[in-house]
Amino acid sequence: MVEYMLSVSNLNAGYGKFHIVFDASFNVAEREILTVVGPNGSGKSTLLKALFGLATIYSGSVIFKGSNITGYPPHVKARIGLAYLPQTDNVFAELSVRENIIMASYTLDENEARDRIEEVLSVYPILKQRLDYKAKSLSGGERQILALAMTLIRRPELIMLDEPTANLAPLIARDLIKKIVQLRDELKKTVILVEQNARAALEVGDKALLMVSGKIAYEGPAGALLKDVELGKRYLGLR
Ligand SMILES: Nc1ncnc2c1ncn2[C@@H]1O[C@H](COP(=O)(O)OP(=O)(O)OP(=O)(O)O)[C@@H](O)[C@H]1O
Ligand SMILES: [Mg+2]
Repeated sequence: MVEYMLSVSNLNAGYGKFHIVFDASFNVAEREILTVVGPNGSGKSTLLKALFGLATIYSGSVIFKGSNITGYPPHVKARIGLAYLPQTDNVFAELSVRENIIMASYTLDENEARDRIEEVLSVYPILKQRLDYKAKSLSGGERQILALAMTLIRRPELIMLDEPTANLAPLIARDLIKKIVQLRDELKKTVILVEQNARAALEVGDKALLMVSGKIAYEGPAGALLKDVELGKRYLGLR
């Protein structure tokens, strides 16, 4: 039997009495990118928040590497290898790049923190040149790279990214997508990528989910969704 990195069954989730995600079932294999697309308000962010423990789960299960983690709170999910990068405010704007990275490593002991900081700076050398800059003075692309670096400090296995390319110029967005591919191909991470930029995200995804009104309207190979003229035109503005 294949053991998935993440296996979600019949997940119902929302916020208090607002039921937003209905009966979501899907699997993510190790070192795979699952791309999640869909119209505004279709429940993509809510799905990620539910998986990370930030939204209410009414029923269903979330299995991570064979363990049932459905009801675990976010700090426990973070400790066992999940990471979640929110859609906005994912760095400390008033702190320098150095301080942001130190904040991300504060639970680690000193030697471990030093090693991991060196490790992430070697993955993202641009940050070495920006260590004393306040995060708010970075370009949008650099800020997202900082957010990725902070995520990597804990060495997560499954990284959930909510619209990392939002508000970036097209070329910068392309570059960031390459960094997400690098997470999978070089750093051996598993990624769930929620994106508005459907074409670019489906091009690099292994599998895809299309969410429509809180339900999964398509689950399958990312390439096949990209080629599905009907769904692409109707829900993703692709043609
Ligand atoms: N904290 C909340 N409390 C109640 N309802 C919420 C809350 N956050 C979001 N919603 C509602 O949940 C629905 C889905 O929102 P969600 O943010 O998950 O969609 P999305 O697919 O991520 O949209 P977008 O593409 O705009 O980011 C929307 O109707 C939204 O108004
Ligand atoms: Mg969203």
